[in-house]
Amino acid sequence: MSLEGKVAIVTGSGRGLGLSYAQELARQGAAVVINDVDAGVAAEAVESITAAGGQAVAVVAPVGSTETAMALVAAAVENFGRLDILVTNAGVLRDKSILKMTDEDFDLVINVHLRGTFTCVREAYAYFKENGIAGRIIAIGSPTGQRGNFGQTNYAAAKSGIVGMVRTWALEMKRAGVTVNAVIPVAATAMTKTVPYFAKAVEAEERGEAMPDFFRKTLGFGTSDDVAGLIAFLASDAAGNVNGQAIGAGGDRLQLWSHPEAIESEFNDGGWDYATLQERFPFAGNLQSVGENFPELPAELQPEPAAK
Ligand SMILES: NC(=O)c1ccc[n+]([C@@H]2O[C@H](COP(=O)([O-])OP(=O)(O)OC[C@H]3O[C@@H](n4cnc5c(N)ncnc54)[C@H](O)[C@@H]3O)[C@@H](O)[C@H]2O)c1
Repeated sequence: MSLEGKVAIVTGSGRGLGLSYAQELARQGAAVVINDVDAGVAAEAVESITAAGGQAVAVVAPVGSTETAMALVAAAVENFGRLDILVTNAGVLRDKSILKMTDEDFDLVINVHLRGTFTCVREAYAYFKENGIAGRIIAIGSPTGQRGNFGQTNYAAAKSGIVGMVRTWALEMKRAGVTVNAVIPVAATAMTKTVPYFAKAVEAEERGEAMPDFFRKTLGFGTSDDVAGLIAFLASDAAGNVNGQAIGAGGDRLQLWSHPEAIESEFNDGGWDYATLQERFPFAGNLQSVGENFPELPAELQPEPAAK
């Protein structure tokens, strides 16, 4: 089933995962609006798609504002006559532990990821509703948003917020036939290349070799292209009954994430007052873990010690 005749916007698609998503959507037949803050990479992305026989234009503007969201939808309609698919992928990191994180670090990350997703989705959905289009919205989360991660207060807030919005939008947009899903990717990109834990995988990719199985299978860590198939699938008619889901992809692995559920309920006549809880906190034996659990790397895949 092809995406021929469909039109997509992919934010932050000048490089990394967004570029792979845009190229795959174009390979499957969709015309694509590329978006990035970096004009150079945006132009190269358009060129890579048109050189392969696809259709693409670029909008160079920072997502976050309503103006950019409007410009993106307008570019889709003016250049290709319609809009069917929105992928909100643009992102930045400003990692610091909380005492070092400034207001600016917090606001920037929230603005690009959370507000950028909100404003683009609101604009796309208004267009879908007005034109009776059973559109596809794919928002990008992160394992950090699902589980928390040291040094990523701003990013965790934004990414868990995005999945929270997806759950809400899946309810609000269902009657219009629009689906909204979150993809939780993991891949070697500029964002992850500097993490020492992934160094051997990134080096293998840069040499043009396949990444070791430990990364692709045990960690679910691979290339940007590994995630792109899922994006195109969720954008297709075949995924019409997939709504409100959070689906992880990376390397050889695909994962279905649960949404938070109450896992234990305890009742006390008259309620749980301070004194009762002091005496009997019922969940002490069932406290939940936080953070991702990274297994130790096999010796041959350990990063080289940093030069002194
Ligand atoms: N790489 C991973 O393993 C990983 C894991 C989880 C989530 N993600 C998410 O996937 C998305 C893409 O990440 P990536 O690793 O490809 O990053 P990347 O840094 O390689 O690419 C992000 C792109 O977004 C652009 N951008 C930044 N701010 C923008 C803005 N305001 N408006 C438009 N474009 C903007 C950048 O110029 C860049 O080209 C992000 O949302 C990221 O949080 C990535």
